[in-house]
Amino acid sequence: MEKRELLYEGKAKKVFATDDENVLLVDYKDDATAFNGLKKGTIAGKGEINNRVTNFMMKLLEKEGVKTHYVEELSNRETLVKRVSIVPLEVIIRNISAGSFAKRYGTEEGIVFDEPTIEFSYKNDDLGDPLINAYHAIALKLATKEEIEKIKAMAFKVNDVMKEFFAGIGIDLVDFKLEFGRLSDGEIVLADEISPDTCRFWDSKTHEKLDKDRFRRDLGNVEDAYNEMMKRIFSK
Ligand code: TMP
Repeated sequence: MEKRELLYEGKAKKVFATDDENVLLVDYKDDATAFNGLKKGTIAGKGEINNRVTNFMMKLLEKEGVKTHYVEELSNRETLVKRVSIVPLEVIIRNISAGSFAKRYGTEEGIVFDEPTIEFSYKNDDLGDPLINAYHAIALKLATKEEIEKIKAMAFKVNDVMKEFFAGIGIDLVDFKLEFGRLSDGEIVLADEISPDTCRFWDSKTHEKLDKDRFRRDLGNVEDAYNEMMKRIFSK
């Protein structure tokens, strides 16, 4: 497959066209941002780790019956994916209180929920990705009612698979963000990435944070955390 023109450059990835109009090439960068791009930095080796971790998770999820955009890993930083139109929603699943949930509701972090929660943010940088409910998403025509139901079911399935996998490598899956896309025939598939940028991972015993919160909160040892996650995931 031939790499062609740059179509889009985001905060953490570049997307290129290929000679197949239904296939795109994603190139992961070491750039890191937080707080809607206000905080900027570099996490050495992040591009490679996020590429390989994402692909590992996409393959695991496919095996468990979750349809994804994954096609093929080309190199340490580059992956082929199916072209989708992204549903402009960030889909967030939480198993344990942390981050904006703890802040919004005035709770401490680390409360284990009886049931996972789901919420949506409207992907819109100008508005700062505001929280949105399913009715508003349908009213704004971001997705249909049927698509929202499908996305919810897929997101909870992803949580079941990932929670079990991470428990097996000594990690509590605190929360994570997913994005979904539509294939040309309208089928909803899991897209984007699943990595320490988009999940909260806490060591099950020590509760040490092994994810992007080390960058967001200036906790230090950011690269060590990404490397530790990579090592544990690929030891399985
Ligand atoms: P939050 O607690 O800040 O809402 O984050 C919930 C989860 O979503 C957390 O695992 C980090 C992830 N996330 C992203 O992937 N991208 C984002 O822009 C934000 C704000 C959170």
